[in-house]
This record gives sequence, C-alpha cells and structure tokens, in this order.
Amino acid sequence: MAPETTPIHINQDLESTLNETRVFPPPPDFAAHAHIPSLGAYEDLYARSIADPESFWAAAARELHWFQPWSKVLEWNLPHAKWFVDGKLNLSYNCVDRHALGDNADKTAILWEAEPIGPNGQPEVRTLTYAELHQEVQRAANALKALGIKRGDRVAVYMGMTPELAIALLACARIGAIHSVIFGGFAAQAIADRVNDSQCVAILTQDSSYRRGSEIPLKRIVDEALATTPSVKHVVVLKRSGTPVTMHPTRDHWWHDLVSSVEPVCECEHMDAEDPLYILYTSGTTGKPKGLVHTTGGYSVQTYLTTKYVFDLNNPAHPNDVYWCTADIGWVTGHSYVVYGPLQNGATVLMYEGAPNYPAFDRFWEIIDRHQVSIFYTAPTAIRAFIKWGNEHVERHKLTSLRLLGTVGEPINPEAWMWYRDKIGHDNCPIVDTWWQTETGGIMIAPIPGAVPAKPGSATRPFFGIEPDVVTKPDSEGRYESVPLGSGGLLVIRKPWPSMARTIYGDDERFQKTYWSDVPGCYFTGDGARRDADGYYWLMGRVDDVLNVSGHRLGTMEVESALVAHTKVAEAAVVGRPDDLKGQAIVAFVTLEASALRPSSSANSADPASTAPVDLNALKDELKKWVTKEIGSLARPEEIRFTDALPKTRSGKIMRRLLRELATHGSIQGDTTTLEDFAVIAKLRESEEG
Ligand code: WTA
Repeated sequence: MAPETTPIHINQDLESTLNETRVFPPPPDFAAHAHIPSLGAYEDLYARSIADPESFWAAAARELHWFQPWSKVLEWNLPHAKWFVDGKLNLSYNCVDRHALGDNADKTAILWEAEPIGPNGQPEVRTLTYAELHQEVQRAANALKALGIKRGDRVAVYMGMTPELAIALLACARIGAIHSVIFGGFAAQAIADRVNDSQCVAILTQDSSYRRGSEIPLKRIVDEALATTPSVKHVVVLKRSGTPVTMHPTRDHWWHDLVSSVEPVCECEHMDAEDPLYILYTSGTTGKPKGLVHTTGGYSVQTYLTTKYVFDLNNPAHPNDVYWCTADIGWVTGHSYVVYGPLQNGATVLMYEGAPNYPAFDRFWEIIDRHQVSIFYTAPTAIRAFIKWGNEHVERHKLTSLRLLGTVGEPINPEAWMWYRDKIGHDNCPIVDTWWQTETGGIMIAPIPGAVPAKPGSATRPFFGIEPDVVTKPDSEGRYESVPLGSGGLLVIRKPWPSMARTIYGDDERFQKTYWSDVPGCYFTGDGARRDADGYYWLMGRVDDVLNVSGHRLGTMEVESALVAHTKVAEAAVVGRPDDLKGQAIVAFVTLEASALRPSSSANSADPASTAPVDLNALKDELKKWVTKEIGSLARPEEIRFTDALPKTRSGKIMRRLLRELATHGSIQGDTTTLEDFAVIAKLRESEEG
C-alpha cells in the first residue's frame, strides 16, 4: 500500500473572505430557555471541562445507562485512548430501551417521509414510537442472530434512507455486531473493497431506493459486488419498492420473512466501553479508503452530549421538538446526528428518503411545514443550491416552527450563512456551524446556541472538553508552535476526546502515521484554520490531498486509481477547483496510452484516408462514466483534460499546485479537445515546487 503522505499546503486566499466583525448574539427568546443560557455560562463550563476533562465527561456519562460502571475514565497512551475503562453498556439500550421503558414510550422516535408522491398527492409517512422502535429493533436483532451473526462480526449495510436503516444499526449495536454502513451512492467495486477490507459476514440491503424520482437498484448493485466478496454468507433484503430482484436460494433472505419468524424480545449484549461499535470508511490521501473504528462508550457519551447542547435537544422547555438532520446515514453525520445522538436524547427524529428537489424545488420547506420541524441541520452545499433555485420556493412556506439551524461538512461562505439566517431562520434562529470529522466521531467546534454569539463563516469556539489549537507547520525536527491569535496554521487537537476513532481497521500503523505523526503529540486534522482575535475558529479547507465535493470527502488518489484502471489511461492527476455550488469540483488531468490515440481504421477498409480521428470528447465522457461505475457518481470528474505528460518535478513528483492553478484559472491552450502541453510551464515552475 502506498504510504500516507501529507503534503501540507495552507491556502491563504481564503483569509480574504473572513468576516470577523459581524457578530450575531443568540436571539434572547432562544437563550431564555436554552440548556446553556449565556456566554458566561459557556465560558465557565468550558474552563472547568478543560481543567478537568475526566470529571466533565464522567458527569455526562452518568446521564446514560451503564450495566456496569467504569473503573477509570481515561487511559491515554498516545495515540491510543481508552475511555470509561471496564464500563459496560449498550448503545441500542440507551437509544431505545431507556425511552421505551420510561416516560417516552409513546413519543414518536422516527418520523419518516417517503420520496414518491402517492396518487392522493401526498407522500407516504410512517411514524414509529419509542415502544414500536423497541419492538422492531429487537426483532431485527433476533433475525441477525438467527443467521448466526454474533458479537464482533462485521455486517455491511447498504440501504436507502428508510426507518429500517436506523433499525439495522440499532440491531447490530444491540447484539454487538460491528456495522459498516456503505453510502447508497457507492458503486459495486467500492462496496466490494469495503466489505473485503473488514471481512463482513453479511450485507443488509433493499430491493431499490428512491432518489429524485428514479429507482436505484441497490440489490442488483450488491449482487455485482458479491461476485468478489467471499466472506459474505448472508444477504438480507428489505422490500421497499417491490421491484423484482434475484434472490439466491440459500444466501439471500427477505427482511420481512426473517423478522416475522423470530421472537420479539432480544436482550442487549453488555458491551465493553471499548468494544467496537462500527467501522466507517472515509477517504484519505491514498487510493485506499480508511476504515475508521469507533468504539462504544466514549462515542455514546460524546454524541449524546453534543446533540443535547449543540442542538439544544432534550430540553424540557421544548418537549415537541422535531429534529431533522438531512444527512444520509451512510456518512458519519447520519450515524452520529440522525441515529445515535438524537435517539439517546429521546428526540423525535425526522428521516426523509429522497432528494431536496423532488418533485419540486421546495420539497424540504414543505416537509418542515408539514411536520413542524423545529431543528434543521444540513450542508452548506445544499444551502447554496437553495439560493440558486430562487427565493420563491422558500417564500411559499411558513417555516415558523423552526427554532435552530445547523450546518456541517465544509466551510460555509458568509453569504450563504446570511441567506440561511434570513430566509430560512427569519432572523430568529441561532445557526450552529459544526466542525468535526469522521475521525472525531462527534462535534468538536461549534457555537453553543443561546450562549456563544455567531460570526457568519466561523465554527466559533470549541465544545466542552475539547482542546483544539492552530499551530505552525512543524520543521524537519518536528518543532512547531501555536500561532498567535489572528493567524492561520494547522488545526490540531491537543488532548484525547471520548468519541475519537480508535484505529484504522486492520492498519494501526496507518492510523498512527496519518493522524499522529505530522504534528508530534497532537491529533492532526488535515484542515487549515485561523483563530481570530476573539479566539474564534475559521476553517480554511483541507491542507492535504483530500477533496470536499458537495460536503463529501474524496481522496484525489482514489479518483486517480479509478482512472488509471481504465485501459486507455496511462497516468492521471486529480485536483480540486473551487466551485460555487459544490465547494470543490473534480478536475482530472489524464495522459492516454499510445494505443488510445491511434486512429482506428474501419475494419473493412484498407484505405488509410478513411481512418476516423480519435473522438476525445467521447473519450472524456467514457472516462467520466468509468469513474462513476468504479466509485459512484459522487466521484465523477467535472472536467477531464488530456495532456501529453503530467508536469513533474525532477524527482518525479506531480506538480499538483500547478495543476490546481491551471484547473482554477483556465487553460494553457484554449482548445480543450486537443492535448495540452505542460512541458514549458512545468520547467518554469520546477524550481519553485522543489
Ligand atoms: C470539513 C463530516 C468547515 C473539514 C462531519 C473536515 C468542515 C472534513 C466543517 C470532514 C465545518 C466538516 N466547517 N469544514 N463546519 N465540517 N468540514 O469526515 O475539511 O465527511 O476535515 O465529516 O469536512 O469530513 P467528514
């Protein structure tokens, strides 16, 4: 495997977009009833949480149910943390049983809306109370057990946004099986890679899912992946659309058959706090995605507490909150803030199956009014799309139920922030811009609404118990220092936190190298940041070769590997170009195999004059389709540029900075259907790149 390298480049351009002087204090009505009602209260609790993080997190942990208390809060041997040592708990119990067996039994846990609009002009809506969810989770857990799936087994989940997807996670957690959710937009090869890496014994999927009016044939894609996944012994298929699928007689089972043939009671496994809960793959700077491992105890505590404070949930002043995080459960945001965080808080969680613009551009606003959503959490890329689609779609709806708005996944530009506050929040809702990562498991930097004044474009200040810092790039001896307030540098986390990923599945060395080597003694986030005079954090994007396309993380090497797997491609270099809507768009520079450029003569003609020239535009389309087929449409390059050779330094390193510049600021030759020649420019820049 290629080593994880972290070429660090700090993007200074973004500094000009900073907007430090605009400050929005929390709306007084909100603050009056918030968990943390003032800046003083935040600062006081933050100071105490940093002075004694172990006591702080232990107090939070005591709000959850433990079968056996911990003997020690933290054991820290950098980079390995153990939180709540010897503690025993079950996250499914804390999400479901605790509420179903208590006062919340009849409260709606999941409120689901389907994408298709029925003949009556309305979409299908399903609600599950905590008591009903309890039943469903126990049956699903027993169904998994009936297949022989046991504690410690890895189970892949490749489903659409249905209530059963949440139930699948909770069922795995209940029996101690480690789930590995694979986003429903990934292609067969990407599924196979992930399933094989962690040797999953089963895949849970569905016949098809709905997205923007079309059906995505999930089972068929799984069937394709299964050709190369020998570890998988069972496939469980949820019937969602009823579209016929091929069922293998011994390997494949219908979800409804399994759950109807098992007992409705399934006791929770008593999991050790450090038992793995899930694996989630995310892109790094090599071609191979990393299977980050999250464990049970610390993850439970931090997702519980961040949800409570950042989204002001579990607040007696707001018993009828309806909480909606629009993320797909296939990403970490869906794990922590659709399923585990809000359910631990006994919230009513809205789940929507489909796209924001189906059947019309106002679907989200319709959903908010229909279900009286009060807390809404989405991505900047979605907000930029709403702006582009036009205010008329928003203005048709009341949106008066909203009291809190959130964003996640990428930096939000101040203009989009202001629009969100004005058009969606009616200047009445605090906005929480939450910075965190798959690796951090839970929110790390975000304003506590009701307490911390917001600045558009800043994730503001750290969560309790979290100690971030911005440091200089370490020198050759590994020396670095914190930058003064007002400057930029690398974002690091100085102390362990409960929901941190514990390792990369099967590759602890890569874990150490990727996150704990660049900045000795600290967790290195891969992000650049600046801290302003008030200590507010301004995220400036990745400083490594990870792209953020529409809030989705993608490694440049992943896309490059997919491209070079095509027979006509010799070499490929992928860079990100700033994009108004997606944040970044993928631009691939490709050199072709000589054979691909040879004009093909028609088979039955010996006349050289009849040879057809190579259609480079058609080849571009072919390569875009190829990447979609290899990884999924999220990785589809926006632009492909053919070149004779990639600009390289004398030592053979691709000059990515040059390519990024070219991708951003135009081309060398206007005609993009011919090969570009970078040789001259490359020479000019060689000394500069080193
Ligand atoms: C970026 C998503 C600026 C960042 C939860 C990070 C953000 C990467 C923000 C993690 C934010 C996430 N402001 N940038 N509020 N939130 N990012 O693992 O570059 O999919 O490193 O986790 O997204 O992406 P991931």
